[in-house]
Amino acid sequence: MTGTGNGERGTVAMAEYVKVASVDEIPAGQGKAVSVDDRRIAVFNVDGTFYAIDDTCTHEEASLAEGAVYGDIVACPKHGSRFHLPSGRVLSLPAVIPVNTYPVKVEDGQILLLPEPQKGRGMPHKA
Ligand code: FES
Repeated sequence: MTGTGNGERGTVAMAEYVKVASVDEIPAGQGKAVSVDDRRIAVFNVDGTFYAIDDTCTHEEASLAEGAVYGDIVACPKHGSRFHLPSGRVLSLPAVIPVNTYPVKVEDGQILLLPEPQKGRGMPHKA
């Protein structure tokens, strides 16, 4: 007989991918704002590849999902700061803080994202 008692290590809650839209809802070159776990997240279609970032601009309260998309960059509709969709990096003033990004995958025509923010690269990060 072997000893017992070391099987319970406790579990850490892991976020799971959540369905947020169908691919048909977000045409190429456009974004859509979705709500997941009280977060506003903007999902973009860049020529069939989907990216997710925080919807709220780090400068003021504009919705980045409503911004114009140029390749893999979105321009804030309020003052024009540009953000790199794959990395969250801010590319132009007046914003100076990157946005969080979120892992995205597509299954059976559905867009799923993991509501676990990945810190955007670049300059200092918003808490
Ligand atoms: S609110 Fe986005 S750049 Fe000002």
